[in-house]
Amino acid sequence: MQFSVTTSTLDKPRVSIRAAGIAHKRKPAAGASALDAARDGEIAALLKAGEIDGEAGSRLLLPGSGAKGSALLIGLGAKKDFDTRAARKAVQTLAAALVERPATSAVIAVADFQPRGQDIAWVVHSLVAAISDAAYRFTAFKGKEETTPVKLDKIQLCVEHGDAAAAKKACTEATAIATGVNRAKDLGNTPPNVCYPESLADTAREMAKQYKSLKATVLDEKDLEKLGAGAILAVGKGSERPPRLIAMEYSGGKKDDAPVVLVGKGITFDTGGISLKPGAEMDEMKYDMCGAASVFGVIEACCELGLPINVVGVVTSAENMPDGRATRPGDIVTTLSGQTVEILNTDAEGRLVLADALTWVERYKPKAVIDIATLTGACIIALGHQGAAILGNNERLAKDLLSAGEATGDRGWQLPLWPEYQEQLKSNFADMANIGGRPAGTITAACFLSRYTEDYTWAHVDIAGVAWKSGKEKGATGRPVPMLMRYLLDQA
Ligand code: BES
Ligand code: MN
Ligand code: ZN
Repeated sequence: MQFSVTTSTLDKPRVSIRAAGIAHKRKPAAGASALDAARDGEIAALLKAGEIDGEAGSRLLLPGSGAKGSALLIGLGAKKDFDTRAARKAVQTLAAALVERPATSAVIAVADFQPRGQDIAWVVHSLVAAISDAAYRFTAFKGKEETTPVKLDKIQLCVEHGDAAAAKKACTEATAIATGVNRAKDLGNTPPNVCYPESLADTAREMAKQYKSLKATVLDEKDLEKLGAGAILAVGKGSERPPRLIAMEYSGGKKDDAPVVLVGKGITFDTGGISLKPGAEMDEMKYDMCGAASVFGVIEACCELGLPINVVGVVTSAENMPDGRATRPGDIVTTLSGQTVEILNTDAEGRLVLADALTWVERYKPKAVIDIATLTGACIIALGHQGAAILGNNERLAKDLLSAGEATGDRGWQLPLWPEYQEQLKSNFADMANIGGRPAGTITAACFLSRYTEDYTWAHVDIAGVAWKSGKEKGATGRPVPMLMRYLLDQA
């Protein structure tokens, strides 16, 4: 899909469909008025007849062809209620309507969808993200696509001259982010017999071949043994597919600029191990590598954009399986940091693979480290599917991530990391246990991680509730690539 910015009037580009907004009580926004003029008052007549009122969520398609093209009118609701949330909804209605049409090209009156308090760049970002999201299909494993494929291919974003520069910049950024989101979705959706630690390593190597600014390093099980990464190895022990620690170094900044380091949980399938999970919906545990998938997505977006900072993406990957060789509840392992862990539940494996990776990344002398993980079911209990949980040892970093989430709609919410919670991790036999009991499960998981991140600025993003959708709409969401990319853009 191709997005571009145009400053011509809405009726000029030769496209199959033109989209504009109608505010409540039949008030055409600027784009709709321009269209009306080009269509000899047809829209005014339809408004008068009450065919479209402009209510939020409503839409009307006026057929047309050739130079005239169709017009798609989107209800914006009352002007006074047109805030960021309302604009997002209108943009989603627009995106859904566009991709279900046979139209191959479209032009959109961007300013019609601009809510109060947001600039044109925000609208461009929202439009590109929503249309790309609506047009996403994962068909790699379908012999013949059942659903009608999306025809939409070229989208022009129509803006005023004065907004053109900002819109173009936003369009470039948003397109790169959409590429990253799609990468994260593809990796997440790939079945666990095809997506496993070594295949993720291959993806990193391929990306490093594709982008000059990227270097990939892969540590295999022998390297991990030599290193002393006992926690990653313990999680991978029950699997035929050995674990990997993957580093992707993106160099967009100066050689000596301290990098932002992203660490993604890459459990390519989580059975729970010997602490086996119940069978219902276990297939969804293929998504337990969505933290890793988001790291791939962000790195790809950085490469596409040529973001002028240094970013390291680290993926800590294993398959958590029950087996004669698998780790048992009660086993004690020595992590890369030297601290010992009594593994009381083999299903709390994410924090184990993260612990070693978080120690390993000290070598980068990072400006900040952000780990991203589908870490706890408790996170879904706390926040549902609306937001990620954010915790960490630095208020500035946590706040920056929260505001990046607000700006993109890929939201997070902060939970406390009070020292008192640490007590829940006490073990009689090792430096710590890997579980902290039922209360505050998301927080005690982060407490565990905090013991491996004391030497740098760190935030943890638990994406258990937002990384994928269940049920009829089952599929990876690509979150939190938009939040992380907004954060990085704000740093650059
Ligand atoms: N990958 C799961 C967390 C998860 C569960 C994410 C359901 C999304 C949906 C993680 O490895 C896990 O199993 N966590 C346990 C921890 C517990 C044993 C302390 C959990 O949340 O139940
Ligand atoms: Mn688990
Ligand atoms: Zn897991």
